[in-house]
Amino acid sequence: MKTVIITGASNGMGYEAAKVFASKGWKVFAGARRVEKIPTDQNIVGLKLDVTDSASNHAFIAEILKQTQQIDVLINNAGYGEFGPAEEIPMENVRKQFETNFFGAVELTQLVLPTMRAQKSGRIINISSIGGDLYIPLGSYYHATKAALQQWSDALDVEIKDFGAQSIIIQPGGTASSWGEIAIGNALKNLKKDSFYQPLVEKIQGALSGNASVGATSLDLAELFYKSATDQNPKRRYFNSFGDRAVVHIARAHPRLFSRLATFMLNRVAKKKA
Ligand SMILES: NC(=O)c1ccc[n+]([C@@H]2O[C@H](COP(=O)([O-])OP(=O)(O)OC[C@H]3O[C@@H](n4cnc5c(N)ncnc54)[C@H](OP(=O)(O)O)[C@@H]3O)[C@@H](O)[C@H]2O)c1
Repeated sequence: MKTVIITGASNGMGYEAAKVFASKGWKVFAGARRVEKIPTDQNIVGLKLDVTDSASNHAFIAEILKQTQQIDVLINNAGYGEFGPAEEIPMENVRKQFETNFFGAVELTQLVLPTMRAQKSGRIINISSIGGDLYIPLGSYYHATKAALQQWSDALDVEIKDFGAQSIIIQPGGTASSWGEIAIGNALKNLKKDSFYQPLVEKIQGALSGNASVGATSLDLAELFYKSATDQNPKRRYFNSFGDRAVVHIARAHPRLFSRLATFMLNRVAKKKA
């Protein structure tokens, strides 16, 4: 029986991924802070996990290693958007953003690699975002964590390939989940009184709320997680749609064109909402 560890399995993509892998006969070790929201199934073991807490990461992997000696796949999915003006987000929240989206993934990976090295196989799947390459205003620290995850994953991949393991990236685009709501909530929370950035927050609120930026379901992404875990020769990057891949290409190859397009699109969405 193959074994997968999925972080952030109490909602959205991680929740759906736990169900998909379990339905295909995998043993799933699923972690989240709201452990009671992790799906229940005979193949799913739900465990409490806060990826920002080193003791929690150690206890999580120790418990898994008590139950199995084999770890085929780790999916670093737990994440959120600490949105708000780069100037105004308190440093404590900036650090929390990196602790969750980047350092959590790093520590869990360090904890599973000895097992993967001993078994001479294993795959680390890191859930980045199209926002690992492109950006919207107020997402500065979120984008920085995802860009960091991508560079780190690529370097790691080269280091571990000699013992038969891989580290790969999935870059979802707008996907129905709690992500947008949480990002908007944080943008409002991080805004100072009488802030210069108030109109920008209202604009981004329009762009992130409702269906404005959503092109996929969490199940679509869960199925992509499964594909990336089971492909014989995995790609370095997985996208859910041609549009997601194209926009990343434009942002990387034509940064000025991307900046103009992004501003145009944001203004259009804001006008529609007004
Ligand atoms: N939805 C999108 O449009 C989109 C687009 C691109 C990339 N992504 C990325 O996709 C991943 C999944 O997001 P989603 O859309 O499924 O969002 P979601 O519905 O908000 O789910 C996020 C999951 O992460 C978990 N999580 C957050 N902080 C955690 C912590 N400190 N420790 C452990 N678990 C934590 C949450 O569980 P608890 O709160 O119970 O701990 C929850 O299960 C994230 O990395 C996100 O950045 C999302």
